[in-house]
Amino acid sequence: MSNLINIRDIAPSDKDPMRGWRNLRHVRTYMYNDKPITKEEHSFWFDFMMYDPTRKYWVIELDNNPIGVVNLANINTLNQSCDWAFYIHDEKSRGRGVGSFVEKFILEYVFLEMGLNKLNCEVLESNPKVVEMHKKFGFVEEGFFREAIKKDEKMIGVHRLSMLKGEYLSSVEEKTGIDKDLDIINKIQKIRSKNNINWMDILRLCLKENNKEAKKIISNINSHDSEISKLVEELSKG
Ligand SMILES: CC(C)(COP(=O)(O)OP(=O)(O)OC[C@H]1O[C@@H](n2cnc3c(N)ncnc32)[C@H](O)[C@@H]1OP(=O)(O)O)[C@@H](O)C(=O)NCCC(=O)NCCS
Repeated sequence: MSNLINIRDIAPSDKDPMRGWRNLRHVRTYMYNDKPITKEEHSFWFDFMMYDPTRKYWVIELDNNPIGVVNLANINTLNQSCDWAFYIHDEKSRGRGVGSFVEKFILEYVFLEMGLNKLNCEVLESNPKVVEMHKKFGFVEEGFFREAIKKDEKMIGVHRLSMLKGEYLSSVEEKTGIDKDLDIINKIQKIRSKNNINWMDILRLCLKENNKEAKKIISNINSHDSEISKLVEELSKG
């Protein structure tokens, strides 16, 4: 699998599947309205949204399959601001960096392409990981609305976060060449640690299916690893 992420404009053909995505429990639970949306409600909403200049929707694809949705809302050209939100409905595509890719895309789009001054988002108290994620990207918490909405018979709060264009630009400029290199190394380390699990799964499978041949391959890996160790040792001297 090549893991190609693509963000494309929403199309009329996304109308029906989108209701299914939005109605999944693991998506609607993080939305203000967590009641399943009827066909009629969705149809009215979708047709209006497609022509609403204050909103913009995209579909997130992974290897050409739709896995999520990202949107801007309340686009206000006078105040130069807008809100945003996103979800990945395909659970197995979560935690693989797609959300981070989308967050970077939105920041670039809003501040560099649209030239707006302020980007806002709101996150439910029950979703603290996403608050942390936004803060990591430089969003600042403006406030916490206590007991703002009712969820499962319980009152919960809402975090309000925002980023200003100036903050975004300085965070991009601040990064020196070395910072960027270190960012790449960090990303590689994270991806490699995920892939290590896949490699171990392959080895387990091979050991079960053809134990003798698998052991030969493991022995080869070990011998090459020893060569690498020698080279690294050489490198570490003086
Ligand atoms: C929010 C969401 C889009 C993040 O997408 P993703 O592809 O899983 O995000 P990434 O893989 O890029 O992870 C980004 C970071 O956020 C963390 N994170 C974000 N949402 C998380 C969640 N629900 N559970 C655990 N970790 C989460 C990840 O651990 C990761 O942290 P790290 O960089 O320190 O490792 C996805 O979790 C989702 O669809 N959640 C449900 C809908 C939702 O909450 N939308 C936001 C409403 S405001």
